[in-house]
Amino acid sequence: MPTEKAIMAELGRLQLPDGDNPVSADMIRALTIEGGKVRFVIEAASPEDAARMEPIRAAAVELVGKLDGVESVSAVLTAHGAQSAPAKAPPKLSIGGHPDPKRKDIRPPGVKRIIAVGSGKGGVGKSTVSANLAVALSRGGQQVGLLDADFYGPSQPRMMGINGRPGQAPDGRIAPPQAHGITIMSLGLMLNDARQAVVWRGPMLMGAVQQLLGDVDWGELDTLVIDLPPGTGDVQLTLGQHKVLDAAVIVSTPQDVALIDARKAIDMFEKLKVPVVGLIENMSLYICPECGHEAHVFGHGGVAAEAESMGVPLLAQLPIDLETRLGGDEGTPVAVTDGKAAGLYAELARKLM
Ligand SMILES: Nc1ncnc2c1ncn2[C@@H]1O[C@H](COP(=O)(O)OP(=O)(O)OP(=O)(O)O)[C@@H](O)[C@H]1O
Ligand SMILES: [Mg+2]
Repeated sequence: MPTEKAIMAELGRLQLPDGDNPVSADMIRALTIEGGKVRFVIEAASPEDAARMEPIRAAAVELVGKLDGVESVSAVLTAHGAQSAPAKAPPKLSIGGHPDPKRKDIRPPGVKRIIAVGSGKGGVGKSTVSANLAVALSRGGQQVGLLDADFYGPSQPRMMGINGRPGQAPDGRIAPPQAHGITIMSLGLMLNDARQAVVWRGPMLMGAVQQLLGDVDWGELDTLVIDLPPGTGDVQLTLGQHKVLDAAVIVSTPQDVALIDARKAIDMFEKLKVPVVGLIENMSLYICPECGHEAHVFGHGGVAAEAESMGVPLLAQLPIDLETRLGGDEGTPVAVTDGKAAGLYAELARKLM
């Protein structure tokens, strides 16, 4: 099997227009080696740079393809810095404070549909699904936004690979950054330090929801995906009561403890009169990369049965997948690639629409 070291050494031989190489310029992301299959992402600073980098990408595929033991090479170009750089750090941008009771309509006017991704239980993959669903919808031709509404544990800055603070629009609203073609806002982008903990009571959360929807210049979007915190708490209630959500999808693993909580989330959305338009089974299966053996680590069939009994579609069954996890940690969602997982997310986006 080829080693990471050998592959990086080959990639280090490529020369960028400025004389640097893609390895020293820290442009190689999400490198995975599975048997003889090598995959990686080359991350350019801007969409324009990415367009110019195609010859480098082709040369990278050729060079790595010549290494011993390599059967196939897949390299994808992305523009990390698709982040529309905020021109200047705004003098004063702060989120937090009690909600304004007079402000009822917080739905951004240019957004056609708003879909929440929820679950009862934590850690089942809401944020991973939200990020990849947003990318898949965008690859399908839509203008997409992603709101990270998990204020206690914001994941999207990391998963979508954004650092730096949002800017300020000419009208004083917050100008959200972009990454991978998606307009993104997260409380995590407003904190001075990613390690800073948010310690808020309910009203503060409600105020933050109001601000992150109403005080952010979301522009014209076909779909805004909202990554919810786990459970059935203040954020979900505020979104439901303000009639912000057009639909919700529920993520669950096939495990009973996750399904029990998923049913609670479904019940909550029904009470809030938000249609639950589908279930997503995540971590449904583990396929051993060595021998192909399939293991149902979290059980089997539970989410499909739940969808059937509710009469809603099972939108996807997403396996436990190393590239999905790596993509999340690296800030390059697996849905930007052309691999199997990206195909599943494209299918999920299609079914959801
Ligand atoms: N299909 C998958 N294959 C492999 N790893 C996954 C998959 N889905 C999610 N993960 C990993 O599982 C962990 C939890 O996922 P994620 O953060 O998306 O869950 P969450 O429901 O948003 O959690 P929280 O409730 O804390 O917000 C992450 O490390 C993520 O990379
Ligand atoms: Mg999350």
